[in-house]
Amino acid sequence: MKNKSIDEKIKVLRKTIDGIDESILDLINQRLLFGKNIGEIKKKSGSEILDIAREKEILDRLAKKNSGPLSNDVIFHVFKIIMAASRDIQTEYPVYESMNNHIDGLGCLDYSRQFFDEKSTFDIFGVMGNPVVHSLSPFMHNFAFNFFSLNSVYTRFEPLNLKYAVSGIRELGIKGVSVTIPYKESIIKYLDTVSESAEKIGAVNTIVNRNGFLEGHNTDWKGFVRALEKHTKIKDKNILLIGAGGAARGIAYGINIKEGQLFITNRTDEKGRVLAKEFSGEFVNIHELGKLEPEIIVNATSVGMYPYTEVSPVDESVFKSGGLAFDIVYNPVETRFLQLAKKKGFKTVSGISMFVYQGEEQFKIWTGKEFPAQLLKEKIFEKIYNI
Ligand SMILES: NC(=O)c1ccc[n+]([C@@H]2O[C@H](COP(=O)([O-])OP(=O)(O)OC[C@H]3O[C@@H](n4cnc5c(N)ncnc54)[C@H](OP(=O)(O)O)[C@@H]3O)[C@@H](O)[C@H]2O)c1
Repeated sequence: MKNKSIDEKIKVLRKTIDGIDESILDLINQRLLFGKNIGEIKKKSGSEILDIAREKEILDRLAKKNSGPLSNDVIFHVFKIIMAASRDIQTEYPVYESMNNHIDGLGCLDYSRQFFDEKSTFDIFGVMGNPVVHSLSPFMHNFAFNFFSLNSVYTRFEPLNLKYAVSGIRELGIKGVSVTIPYKESIIKYLDTVSESAEKIGAVNTIVNRNGFLEGHNTDWKGFVRALEKHTKIKDKNILLIGAGGAARGIAYGINIKEGQLFITNRTDEKGRVLAKEFSGEFVNIHELGKLEPEIIVNATSVGMYPYTEVSPVDESVFKSGGLAFDIVYNPVETRFLQLAKKKGFKTVSGISMFVYQGEEQFKIWTGKEFPAQLLKEKIFEKIYNI
């Protein structure tokens, strides 16, 4: 009799929970539809779907409003998944970030675990940025760790609070981190030291953790110079650099070191002007590129990167007769920018070589070992095209 009444009570409570779950489901779907409306407005105005500042503002506001018993950590995870699902629904080619964000790290670990026995420990490395769901760095570095049979694994980190993320690297003994959009410049103030070139560039793309002491390096510029010099000398060439972000800073530095003549253009004039001044270049407004006849044109913006592959940062009138076009975007291998350049008789270079060479430099800093660069270029090409 007593048991029956307990069962009855549980049944009633469960029924209430089922009702709440259905309301939550309904509310999440309603939220996603509002997000979809915003996505359509953003698409018309050409704005980015991901707005990190807005996402952080939401998480901070909810944490303040939270009266428990749910912890703020759980709120963070639940809403990160909801916001990623909202981004997925706003995108023409969804990548299911909402799932990937949470399973991809584990996916990398599972991939690597097959090489270890149960009792072995392994060193952790990763790429840190937002978003990093498309990054091929985990594929590249895990391949190299496996190639050398190292007990190491490389995963993805997508923090919203950079300061806490850097404390995490130190405290958890994460051995090395690749830094990407949008943290290459802002991370410097949290590190213990930076290399001379990274300091001059003002951007770090590689962190090495030496027993809790964090060193910052920049390998983008070396990767760029090596990839370009496979095709042509840089010295005395007129080079138009499109972009003024973290990667563009490294490239401007490399062009300086190799004594090329630098011209810079950027969507936001002010950032382009500052970069041109710092690296003895000439700033040219993006609508006045017609007056230039560059021998080399470099796209150092993220425009054209998967999944927004139909766009180019400049139109075809920028490509005069003959020359070399270099896109640092590596997925797709032939971007819209490179297609336009090819039509005008330009030689084209994709970002894959730079990507592999900058990765090779990172790997050397972390392990002291030489990367299987050529093999990796082939593997990455196969991976991008699902061969
Ligand atoms: N191949 C490689 O090894 C390699 C290495 C590093 C980076 N990358 C790639 O390079 C790209 C840039 O990386 P980053 O770290 O420099 O990023 P970042 O610091 O965020 O800079 C982004 C640059 O792109 C411009 N931009 C962004 N959206 C634009 C749009 N819709 N129209 C015109 N310009 C736009 C920005 O202009 P504003 O200043 O106006 O915002 C800025 O100049 C990424 O795609 C990254 O994956 C490749």
